Amino acid sequence: MTVQTASLKGLDLLAEIERLKRERNAVILAHYYQKPEIQDLADFVGDSLDLSRKAAATDANVIAFCGVRFMAETAKILSPDKTVVLPDMDAGCSLEDSCPPDQFAAFRAAHPDHIALTYINCSAAVKALSDIIVTSSSAGIILDQIPKDQKIIFGPDRHLGGYLARKMGREMLLWPGICIVHQAFSETELLKLKAEHPDAPVAAHPECPPHIIDHADHIGSTKSILDFALSSPAQMILVATEPHIIHQMEKAAPNKIFIGVPGGDGNCNCNMCPYMALNTLEKLYVALRDLQPRIELSAEVMERARVPLERMLEMAGRTVGQGDVGKPVLPIIDHPEEIDPAISGD
Ligand code: 13P
Ligand code: SF4
Repeated sequence: MTVQTASLKGLDLLAEIERLKRERNAVILAHYYQKPEIQDLADFVGDSLDLSRKAAATDANVIAFCGVRFMAETAKILSPDKTVVLPDMDAGCSLEDSCPPDQFAAFRAAHPDHIALTYINCSAAVKALSDIIVTSSSAGIILDQIPKDQKIIFGPDRHLGGYLARKMGREMLLWPGICIVHQAFSETELLKLKAEHPDAPVAAHPECPPHIIDHADHIGSTKSILDFALSSPAQMILVATEPHIIHQMEKAAPNKIFIGVPGGDGNCNCNMCPYMALNTLEKLYVALRDLQPRIELSAEVMERARVPLERMLEMAGRTVGQGDVGKPVLPIIDHPEEIDPAISGD
C-alpha cells in the first residue's frame, strides 16, 4: 500500500514530523540505507541488530520504522505493545520474497536433524519457523556458539551463508536467496576503481557475491563498514554496500573520500535498494499523523517468532557489531546445490 502524498504541498514537513513525534510519544528508527533527509531526522540510525535492540528497549508508544518491512515486523515482535508504523508497506526485500513460508517449512521438514539459523531478512512467518535469527553483524559469534556437530540450515541469503561457511569452516545447507542490490555490484567496475585508486581499501557487505567479497579488505555489516571507513587511516574507501550509508561517512569524516562501487555496467542505479527508497518524508509524516500503515501480525506468529529473535539478542551479547568479521580463508561454497546433504552426513 503506497500512501498518496500529493495534498501535502506547502507543509513544513520537518516541523510537522517533530510536532507529531512529541504528540504521539514516537521514536523514529532508521536504517543506514534510508535517504539522507530521513537519516538526519531519525532518533537513531543503525544496522539491523542495533535497530532491533533499540526497538526492544524503547519506552516510546509509537515506533516509526524507516527501513523495510521485515525490520518493522521485528520491532513489533520485540515490542508487541507498541504501535509500529512503516511509511510504505511495500518496502519489502528480495531475500524475504525468495523464501515463502510454506516452502521453507517443507525444506525444514525434509531435514529434521538440522536447526534453522535464519537471517533476519525474512518474513515474520519464516522467523516463526526458525530456531535462531542472526544479522550480518551477529551471525559469526552466534554460529560459533552452536556445537560443531549440529547440522544447520541457513537461509535465505546464500551469499551470507556461503561466506560464513567458508570463513568458519562450517558446512550448512543454504537456501538459494539473494539480495538484488548486492548481487548487482560489478566486479569489472570494482577492478577499474581499484586500478585507479590502488591505496583505497574495499569494504563489502557479506550479502555480496564471492567475486566482490574476494576483493574486499573488510567484510561486515553496515555498522561495521561504517566503523571501518572511519577508523581506517586510508583517505579514500571503496564501499560495496548500498551507497546511502556514505551519508553517515561523509558527516563523520568530511575530509575523506568515499566511493560507492557501481552496479551493472556502471551507469545504472541498481546498487541502490528500491525497497528502502520507497520511504519519504511525506510518507513518514502521514504515518505519524494517521498511525498507518501499521504492522499487524497474528499473536501466534509473534509469539513463535519472538523466541528465535530473543535468542539472537541473548547470543549476540552487547559487543557484537563492532569491527571486522575477517577475510574469507576457505574455498567458496557459493552454490547451495554444491552442499549436498549426502556430503554433510545425512
Ligand atoms: P545490516 O544488518 O548490515 O544493516 O544489513 C541489512 C541489510 O538489509 C543489508 O542489505
Ligand atoms: Fe533487502 Fe537487499 Fe534491500 Fe537489504 S539491500 S533490504 S537485503 S533488497
